[in-house]
Amino acid sequence: MSGFANRLIAWQRTYGRHDLPWQGADAYRVWLSEIMLQQTQVSTVIPYYQRFTASFPTVASLAAASEEQVLTHWSGLGYYARGRNLHRAAQIVVEKHRGEFPRQHEQILELPGIGRSTAAAICALAFHEHRAILDGNVRRVLERYCGIAGWAGNREVEGKLWQQAEALLPQRDIAAYTQALMDLGATVCTRSKPKCGECPVQAGCVAFNTGRTNELPTPRPRKAMPEKHATFLLLMHGNDILLEKRPGSGIWGGLWCPPQFDDEAAARGWFMRNGMTASHGERLETFTHTFTHFKLHITPLKIQLSHKPLRAAQPGSLWLDAGEALRAAIPTPVRKVLENLGRSS
Ligand code: ADE
Ligand code: SF4
Repeated sequence: MSGFANRLIAWQRTYGRHDLPWQGADAYRVWLSEIMLQQTQVSTVIPYYQRFTASFPTVASLAAASEEQVLTHWSGLGYYARGRNLHRAAQIVVEKHRGEFPRQHEQILELPGIGRSTAAAICALAFHEHRAILDGNVRRVLERYCGIAGWAGNREVEGKLWQQAEALLPQRDIAAYTQALMDLGATVCTRSKPKCGECPVQAGCVAFNTGRTNELPTPRPRKAMPEKHATFLLLMHGNDILLEKRPGSGIWGGLWCPPQFDDEAAARGWFMRNGMTASHGERLETFTHTFTHFKLHITPLKIQLSHKPLRAAQPGSLWLDAGEALRAAIPTPVRKVLENLGRSS
């Protein structure tokens, strides 16, 4: 058992987080929390987690829900594939495991949306199995503590990190240790200005001892972030707006959005082809939504229709008033647009 693990476990008792709603919960809730926490910070996740577990208290109730209901609960959290995978995984748990969340790492790993680290976190936190995790926070702690340089997306670097993560595991208190690692990364060994003065493992930390806490972790090799443009066509009839359900598994797959085009000319062409007539049109201010891998500059084109066109009755498209639309499964930029519409009208 390493001094690293002993110190962390002792530190966790006094300084770690003990009041997170998923701590000590069943495997279903630990799983849900780990998925929500994959790309989102704790303070944002908590209200989503609470609404989600209130509506879907069991795996079976999640499996029985519609994708629409699940995505409505995910609205605003981003990375919607997480919600779609969670829903599919719940159905698999019901079909293959009789509604009981599986206990074995390989079985957990087979479920959609669950990678090696998330499966290990569920095993450690819910079933007290000795498994190493390596999420973003833990990776940073190990890169500094062990002095591992190189971008963590590199296979070789990743291999070294997993090796260290396993070598440092304790023989006991795996749940406390796992939580301690996460908490240390989130509260002490932070990305910028780590609080080394408060760190329980400072004495053994390579980055601290060699004055390299600013250099580690090695950042991702810089690539310019691509920038893309889009036009949202806001078709209004009175207070109602036309939204379409995005097909499949793209970035906003399954979510409700205004018709989207590469530019204004394409939007206008579509509008004409569909035989629509406008009483008033207006270009709203362009705003930017930043994804992990690109920036999207969105220009909303707001058009007041003189008649509601037939198109609106097609499956997959829907007229909603602004209030209804805000309660639907919509991504954050659409929420912004709708909130601004409310303000300006
Ligand atoms: N980030 C990922 N998993 C977490 C957990 N269980 N508690 C706090 N932050 C986390
Ligand atoms: Fe991170 Fe500093 Fe602790 Fe090293 S001493 S693990 S850099 S907080």
